[in-house]
Amino acid sequence: MSAKYIIGERSSHLYEIQICRGDKMNALTDAMYGDLVEQLEIAERDDAIRVIFLRSNNKHFSAGNDLADFVETEFNESSNVIKFLVSLASLKKPLVCAVSGAAVGIGTTLLLHCDLVYACDDSKFSVPFIKLGLTPEGASSKLLAQRCGTAKANDWLLTGRTFLTDEALGSRLINGSYPDMETTWNEARNIAVKLAKSSSRALQETKALLKADQIDNVIDTMRKEAIVFAEGLETEEAKAAFHAFLNR
Ligand code: COA
Repeated sequence: MSAKYIIGERSSHLYEIQICRGDKMNALTDAMYGDLVEQLEIAERDDAIRVIFLRSNNKHFSAGNDLADFVETEFNESSNVIKFLVSLASLKKPLVCAVSGAAVGIGTTLLLHCDLVYACDDSKFSVPFIKLGLTPEGASSKLLAQRCGTAKANDWLLTGRTFLTDEALGSRLINGSYPDMETTWNEARNIAVKLAKSSSRALQETKALLKADQIDNVIDTMRKEAIVFAEGLETEEAKAAFHAFLNR
């Protein structure tokens, strides 16, 4: 059903994955997470691929988890979203990401598992779990503070407020920004292509060293977060928030 929403294409040593559900701001469904996992596995398995590049093919990066899917699909520790997060965190090959427009919820937390992130000057980021009666996922309860500092992590996760590219850059959530969407995609892709000219072994060893000691903790945190998240989904306030959005 979702195959057309996630596409992957190999070009020399680069594997490019695009999220293509523009009419719903690239909100991600369980099936789409499944397809993302499949695409990441293809890229990891292929010895010719050295670098993975992720972006959307439209104005926004992702409005986060599809809220209708939260209502319709059972969430548990073995849901595709958890498989997706674990496979992102476990990637051996470098992952470069280009963000355009909105990056909401997992649209922002997945960036914590990317090695290099670039965004448009006018992108908008948020981790608004609190507004839905939910809690952090994707190990963001640990990684956001590690990457951006405790003050920012507390602010963003406790208020759920939207922040802009300047703040994301100043807080080291992203590596750089470009004036518009096309430039962001092109420049981020150029950087990924440049990386892919390096030795595959050295790229992977460097990534492994940079992430040393982190991976087990990250996956453990994701699993703990998933238990609390699943409880949150069953609460009346979460159900009311989904209902309010879906019946606007
Ligand atoms: N799940 C399902 N559909 C979503 C979605 C989501 N997370 N985010 C956006 N969409 C859909 C909208 O329902 C709408 O579809 P429709 O045209 O068929 O009605 C379309 O995408 C455009 O969204 P819209 O809300 O009209 O755009 P906007 O510019 O007014 O607002 C947002 C953008 C991101 C502020 C708003 O869409 C939003 O709050 N989305 C929910 C974000 C969220 O809570 N994600 C989960 C975090 S855990």
